Amino acid sequence: AAALFDSGLLAGQRVVITAGPTREALDPVRYISNHSSGRMGFALARAAVDAGARTTLVSGPVQLATPAHVRRVDVESAQQMLDQCLELLPECDIFIACAAVADYRPATFASQKIKKGAERSSLELVRNPDIVATVAASSAAPFTVGFAAETSKLLEYAQAKMENKQLDMIVANDVAGAGIGFNSDENAATVLWPGGSEVLEQASKLNIARRIIALIAKQMKNSSE
Ligand code: CTP
Ligand code: CA
Repeated sequence: AAALFDSGLLAGQRVVITAGPTREALDPVRYISNHSSGRMGFALARAAVDAGARTTLVSGPVQLATPAHVRRVDVESAQQMLDQCLELLPECDIFIACAAVADYRPATFASQKIKKGAERSSLELVRNPDIVATVAASSAAPFTVGFAAETSKLLEYAQAKMENKQLDMIVANDVAGAGIGFNSDENAATVLWPGGSEVLEQASKLNIARRIIALIAKQMKNSSE
């Protein structure tokens, strides 16, 4: 299988990709989560392997088969996803954060199922760690790529996220439109990096993934020259 990783745009590179949603437990039977099929992250993993990269998926709960030759680590919560990513970091050249990480988790976990009571109830939440920002801020950080799914001011918010999180690239996804994003097989995006951008017209997630991988390879080459 070593020959698999000998050629291609990312030959010999070690890629870690987060994918899918996270689940933040409230009690043994309930959790907070969000819509994410994991398909974009899994398509990226397949495209990375096809480009010669040794690829690991750190995946939240999804209903997808693992692409061939991809190592997969399953997690549930944002904290578990962060822990796994940090463990993989010493052997990571490219980090792609495609997961829809829950921004908050319940402040406390109830070890017994919570019983209903009052007519009104509220839930105290605390912020989760930012996985991609933590990776980008680490010493000897890999080439770090984020996603930004927005329903308005797409490029403005995406640019701000790239700067605030110190990312090398961000994939801006308009999730307001019908038929693309979330549970769809198709996607469209604008890829931004410091000093440039490229529009990826609507296409299959695998096609979009291959083009993102090609842009990463090109941008890494440019910034090492
Ligand atoms: N991300 C992450 N860890 C988090 C939240 C987000 O790694 N706790 C990553 C996502 O995987 C994505 C990028 O950060 O690559 C942007 O996620 P997004 O939800 O669009 O941005 P946030 O910074 O969470 O801001 P907001 O949800 O308020 O728009
Ligand atoms: Ca968020």
